Amino acid sequence: MLQRPFPATVRRLAGDWGTRADVSELIPAPRTIDDGPTGHAVTLDRDTTLWAAPGTGGTERWLRSTLGAALGLPLPPGPEDARDSVRLRIDDTLEPEAYRLSVVTGRGVEIRGGDAAGVFWGAQTLRQLLGPDAFRRAPVRPRAAHVIPHQIVEDAPRFRWRGLLLDVARHFMPKDGVLRYLDLLAAHKLNVLHLHLTDDQGWRIEIERYPGLTETGSWRARTKFGHRASPLWDERPHGGHYTQDDIREIVAYAAERHITVVPEIDVPGHSQAAIAAYPELGNTDVIDTTALSVWDTWGISPNVLAPTDNTLRFYEAVFEEVLALFPSEFIHIGGDECPKEQWRRSATAQARIKELGLADEDELQAWFIGHFSKWLSARGRRLIGWDEILEGGLADGAAVSSWRGYGGGIAAARAGHDVVMCPEQYVYLDHRQDVGAGEPVPIGFVRTLEDVYRFEPVPPQLTEEEARRVLGTQANVWTEVMEDSARVDYQAFPRLAAFAEVAWSALPAPAERDFAGFERRMAAHYRRLDALGVAYRPPAGPRPWQRRPGVLGRPIEGPPPNR
Ligand code: ACM
Repeated sequence: MLQRPFPATVRRLAGDWGTRADVSELIPAPRTIDDGPTGHAVTLDRDTTLWAAPGTGGTERWLRSTLGAALGLPLPPGPEDARDSVRLRIDDTLEPEAYRLSVVTGRGVEIRGGDAAGVFWGAQTLRQLLGPDAFRRAPVRPRAAHVIPHQIVEDAPRFRWRGLLLDVARHFMPKDGVLRYLDLLAAHKLNVLHLHLTDDQGWRIEIERYPGLTETGSWRARTKFGHRASPLWDERPHGGHYTQDDIREIVAYAAERHITVVPEIDVPGHSQAAIAAYPELGNTDVIDTTALSVWDTWGISPNVLAPTDNTLRFYEAVFEEVLALFPSEFIHIGGDECPKEQWRRSATAQARIKELGLADEDELQAWFIGHFSKWLSARGRRLIGWDEILEGGLADGAAVSSWRGYGGGIAAARAGHDVVMCPEQYVYLDHRQDVGAGEPVPIGFVRTLEDVYRFEPVPPQLTEEEARRVLGTQANVWTEVMEDSARVDYQAFPRLAAFAEVAWSALPAPAERDFAGFERRMAAHYRRLDALGVAYRPPAGPRPWQRRPGVLGRPIEGPPPNR
């Protein structure tokens, strides 16, 4: 089942919030929690053993290293029936990714998962029950024992795709930063990292067949600071890329955390960095593509790929290496914001339109995307692209990331395509969090923590059958105005915590969501984020060093649609 209905138990749970400190602090909220008798508890200490059934070894390693480092709990292996031990097992009666965490006096802690991922998500809940110190990398106030109140948590995700897009093209995020974000996703039970690896401003993945993509395409001479209308420049070269070994490490680190990395290689627009490295990829009969460099400002570059056989073969070779690195079922091909002006002026593109019997340049784009859809499905993968790929028709099996509102996702679901809902008006975390003048490099709509908390991924227009096409949702972090990881943290947090609850928890309809209760739980969650070293936006607004006065951001636009 792709999407789980809201269970009736949620209401019971919502009414119970606030009665117990530990219960009221979990984020994302679990489906149900049954309290035990008051005063009963399980104590974890240096003698507590860990028993892991076959198939749960990943979580066993993760618990030992994480809780071992943070709390000094070594969790040595022990027998299944040891008193007050920690036990991990798979339980086929539970749904995929679901878990049941039992903290039972005299027995200890047991995590049963519907699969290995469920066991891992249960371990994330256990970490939250152990308090903020469990989020550090070394013990700060050594304690002999850690007490967890008796309780049983039953939990399962609402959606199977709970994602974050990181744009590592506009500003490169070095590998360690990506690994850190994988840990942050895991802590929030998010399970997809969509890596936006290529754009006009940089190419970030080593392709052995075409070394120029990173030798030339991963560096730009300077960077626009702020909105593209800003007069400010950072005159330092900016760039970097991941080697194939870096990518293997990122993918393996993600897999240990039950996170899928979905790579995005953008075609046929957002490709100027590739054209700067290999000018024959561009529309050479329209402009002198040898004069192009990696773009140093923001917006939508007019320099797009030429729809030639040479371009198709080049990108097939790129995708061959991408498929060898990323086991993801879905491969993202971008497909957004491809200006057609060069194709209109290109004799080569016009000849291709004629030869293929196409009506216009939009159909030429559909043909281009369709080519890679067939190419990927012949290799057992599925294409996913931004909602522009619906224009001109979309191949069976392809999926859509709905970003220009809900419209693309609704159309795609009705046409039988799977959808990931990520409307710009709600979950683009580059947009400002407040109207205040202190927001750093403010761009776009104001999307507060509460707005994100009240975001609903399944629009009411969809029938139940169509709604099953919504695989899930993702928040997108575009980094034009985020030059380092502190800026990424500021834009992502705390809103990503609200987003995680939207993606995971069985929340009621937006107007009925208990935002005040969420804020109360956030008080505890900020302590976890502090321990993790996340440079979030504090509820009272940016700290002095988080402000960026005087840098032009994109102005606030009109009220978002659908609201
Ligand atoms: C996008 O924001 N252009 C997908």
